[in-house]
Amino acid sequence: MKSVISYPYRGKWGRADYRGNCSGFVIKDLLEMYKPRSFLEIFAGGGTGFEVAREMGYKDSVHLDLNPEWGGWNALKDEITICSELIFCHPPYYDMVIYSGEVWGEAHEDDLSRARDYGDYIRKLNLVHRKLFNSLPEGGRLVTLLGDCRKHGVYYSIIKDMEYFGSLESHIIKIQHNANSSRRSYKGSFIPIVHEHLLIFRK
Ligand SMILES: C[S@@+](CC[C@H](N)C(=O)[O-])C[C@H]1O[C@@H](n2cnc3c(N)ncnc32)[C@H](O)[C@@H]1O
Repeated sequence: MKSVISYPYRGKWGRADYRGNCSGFVIKDLLEMYKPRSFLEIFAGGGTGFEVAREMGYKDSVHLDLNPEWGGWNALKDEITICSELIFCHPPYYDMVIYSGEVWGEAHEDDLSRARDYGDYIRKLNLVHRKLFNSLPEGGRLVTLLGDCRKHGVYYSIIKDMEYFGSLESHIIKIQHNANSSRRSYKGSFIPIVHEHLLIFRK
């Protein structure tokens, strides 16, 4: 893994049709590099992390999501009952994709993609990250995958506005291959977003 990662092929793991899914290679590379003894994934979505973990022999890894398919675990209200050496989380990027009521089930008030506004989203994201970080053992890592977004001409930099925890061990740029903006061509001064951020915090 280097400070820029790019996976033109997302890999075979998880549901490629789950909106906002990520490449399983991100998770595979993290697990191969850090070799954590325990692995927890929050925002499991289309099952990418689950399938990677099982293939790599993590029989007891835990994968949680508000989506009822993953037990309806609510990152805002529910506790983390295990202490895992590596936590991977891939939250909604503000309201770029609305999950509850659109990707699955009924609209849920604690769905991060349904936050009242951007300030409410950042407050909730901080709360979740804090809870995850607190659950780590000393030396453990919290890895979060996030994208900046643009709405009605306003640029929202989630990684600038959110709270940081422990020490930032790495900031990796991930090239985005399947976003609408990477397929379209633009004229003038508009700069499309074709990357995401992988932040690795160490406790
Ligand atoms: C970007 S997707 C994760 C995609 C996943 N990495 C994949 O590859 O399929 C974000 C997920 O956050 C979940 N989510 C939103 N609010 C949540 C909450 N309060 N607690 C737990 N999960 C939540 C959504 O259901 C959605 O599956």
